[in-house]
Formats: sequence, structure tokens, C-alpha cells
Amino acid sequence: MATPHIEVNDSSLIAKTVLMPGDPLRAKFIADTYLKDVQLINSVRNMLGYTGYYKGKKITVMGSGMGMPSIGIYSYELYQVYGVEQIIRVGSCGSYSPIINVYDVIIVTDAYSESSYAKTAYNMDENTLPGDFDLIKDLNNSAKMLGYPVFNEIIHSSDVFYRADSHEFKQIRDQFGCAAVEMESFALFANAIYLNKKAACILTVSDSLVTNQATTAQERQVSFNKMMEIALEAAK
Ligand code: HPA
Repeated sequence: MATPHIEVNDSSLIAKTVLMPGDPLRAKFIADTYLKDVQLINSVRNMLGYTGYYKGKKITVMGSGMGMPSIGIYSYELYQVYGVEQIIRVGSCGSYSPIINVYDVIIVTDAYSESSYAKTAYNMDENTLPGDFDLIKDLNNSAKMLGYPVFNEIIHSSDVFYRADSHEFKQIRDQFGCAAVEMESFALFANAIYLNKKAACILTVSDSLVTNQATTAQERQVSFNKMMEIALEAAK
């Protein structure tokens, strides 16, 4: 039952809970840093996936690639073909808000998008889709337990990274209440809602569209680790 994109024939090699960074090398980093008894389960297109154990709980971590078409494919196959129950995206975002700075961590409550993904795939008319209520609660509880401050925000899932008008984000922010921008959550949430599964997203702020501040790779790693700990604790 391998798919065109995931070379796994035995569903038991994939955990019920999957953490998805955009970058497959981040998936490798997470597996190397946090998981025990790790097994490489996918390398098709170098979209690395690993299954291992975190505090005794079986977890799969796999890259999603960038953008809604990419995460749309991988998350659909994980849910539908491999019986995955919950996917937590662990990603980065650009801040739209003057009070949310680089390295801050955001738990996504809802994703607004101008994307046609949900309409095209499932005839869903909504342009804002929610993350799973229980998963969001679990992420907040684990952040509290670890003592890491988080924001809970609506975010913008954008189809484009580069725009002709770099100030256009203000209109999207003000009209739809979006505090930050990334490029995947809306498709992930649409798949989960359609397939009756769970999805959530936790993000670290890697750049600010307000101040144009950007992070260094090393500093990014520290806040990334906080986000990962929150997600791993919530996943178990
Ligand atoms: N735009 C879109 N996606 C992103 C950004 C951004 O500025 N930063 C991190 N992911």
C-alpha cells in the first residue's frame, strides 16, 4: 500500500501521531535529538520520515514540504492510507503583529486563506478553518507545564511568499485578524476536517513583516526546540 509519495507498505511503521516540520532535515533533527529507537520510514523525494519513541510514546516525524499543495498530499496520505489520527505541524511563520516578535511561539487557533484548496478538494466554502480544539488545549497545557509563554492566534496561510506590494499584509491582518503568515495550515486543517481526523499547528516566528527583523540560524534553533518540546509533550 505504498503511495506515489510515501514508500511505506506496513501502516504499523507509522505512528498514530505525526509531527510535521516543513523541512525534511528538521524531521531528521527532531528524530536524532528527541526520539529513541528511530527508524527511517520514508525517503521518496528526500521527504524524510522517521518513527521512534518519545518517553515511551510512538511518534512519527516527517517533512511536509513548503506550501499547501505539498502538505495537502502528505497529510492526506498519512490520514487516509496509513490511519494516522493526529498531525501537528511544527513550523515557522512571519509576524504580522507589532507585539509578536521573532522567536515567539504561536499556537494556531484558525487558519485564514485565500487559497482555493478546501473549495477545490472538498467543496468547502469557508475561508477560515479551525485547528482541533482538543489538540490546541493539549498544546496549551504542555506549554504551561514547561513554562514557555505562547500566543494563541488566527494565522494567514498564504499561497505566495513574495508579493509585489509588501504592505498588503496589513489589509489581510486587519480584515481577517491574522497575527502571522505561513503557507500550510489551511490545507492541513481542511484535510483533517474532511477526513474526521485531528490537526493542529504550532509555529515559531522566524521573521517580522512589521519590523523586518529576521533570525539567525542558531537563534532559531533555540526557539525551535521550545516549540518542539511543547509539541512532543502534547503528543504523548
Ligand atoms: N511568509 C510566508 N511564510 C513564512 C514566512 C513569511 O514571511 N516566514 C516563515 N514562513
